[in-house]
Amino acid sequence: MDVSYSDRLQKLPPYLFADLRRKMAEARRRGVKVLRIDIGDPDSPAPDPVVRELIRAIDDKEDPFRHRYGCDVPAEAFPEAVRSFYQRRWGVDLGGGQVVTTMGSKDAIVKLALGIMNPGEIGVAPQPGYPTYNIGHVFAGGSTYYVSLRKENGFLLDFEEIPADVRRAAKILWINYPNNPTTATATLEFFERAVEFGRRNDILIAHDSAYSENTYDGYVAPSILQVDGAADVAVEFFSLSKAFSMTGWRAGCVCGNPSAVRALQAVKENIDNGTLRAVQFAAARALNLAEELIPPINEIYRRRRDVVVDALNAAGWNLEKPQATIYVWAPVPEKYASAKSPSGAFVEELLEKTGVMVTPGRGYGPAGEGFFRISLTYPDDVLKEAMDRIIGIKE
Ligand SMILES: Cc1ncc(COP(=O)(O)O)c(C=O)c1O
Repeated sequence: MDVSYSDRLQKLPPYLFADLRRKMAEARRRGVKVLRIDIGDPDSPAPDPVVRELIRAIDDKEDPFRHRYGCDVPAEAFPEAVRSFYQRRWGVDLGGGQVVTTMGSKDAIVKLALGIMNPGEIGVAPQPGYPTYNIGHVFAGGSTYYVSLRKENGFLLDFEEIPADVRRAAKILWINYPNNPTTATATLEFFERAVEFGRRNDILIAHDSAYSENTYDGYVAPSILQVDGAADVAVEFFSLSKAFSMTGWRAGCVCGNPSAVRALQAVKENIDNGTLRAVQFAAARALNLAEELIPPINEIYRRRRDVVVDALNAAGWNLEKPQATIYVWAPVPEKYASAKSPSGAFVEELLEKTGVMVTPGRGYGPAGEGFFRISLTYPDDVLKEAMDRIIGIKE
């Protein structure tokens, strides 16, 4: 039997990286030493105290629930740690508001769409941007209206660009700062505008805060929930993945607008059975030790960011150092400007000639064209060698 993909799966845009993966395999077969610096998945392990807490909790014979469905036996320690973290970190009192324990943000982004969107409805998402916002809309039977993020606006979403008919129809608007892939940051004033836009147009504002803790040079990323009355119209997705090098653990939370939070929780109750209790305890430990655990992780990314940006700038790139995220977002060299897809042409040639694999901007939608993304989740010596190779093909 050969089952066919559902219509909804077929509606997803083609996986742009499949072709690059094939090219990477071919290059390897030719004996090229491929250096990947494209994927944003931390290379360092989760911090020791978090690992120790996981081991303690999974083998805690005093806890009869340790191997049970996580949804039925929530570890109160996690929502408590989230409340304390929001209070310490942003001065936000989550009060009696529900904290949804998620299996990381990706999963929850799709589940929120499933919980609030009907077939034919619209969600608004940034472009270039994380593809999962659109995937959620499509799986819910809806579609996406994209708003371009432009360099001249500091890659901030311009709410004025959203036409009146889209404002009337849209159910949800996604924003993400610090931003993947552009590395842009937003001020609290931007979040105030977002909340105001949501309130005026009756659109749920969903802030994806996946990189709020990956910050450098004293920059502190705000939370949308700091805005007065934000919970009337906004939800925030927080993830432990990048903040604590815990991508594989699948741990995060969603807080804010009570009806959106309830819808997400209801979808989860119907689809997943929650997060392993030991992961909940370990994630709580991470948040409770955030002030101690996060700075050493960020110091590694800051050092690598400097290696990458200094090398590119020495070769004439003229980049500012990103204050946040685990990426560097850079324009492709001028000589590719006339190609049909400058970022595609650059990335393919880079792979062919040097074996270095970066992410083409067009992978984040047409508005990402003209740029490429480097991830700082690779060892310093790999990044250094990759920079030497990239610089060699610039001219
Ligand atoms: C913008 C953004 N949001 C969400 C995620 C999902 O992270 P996780 O599901 O691990 O929390 C990522 C991961 O790369 C991301 O870049």
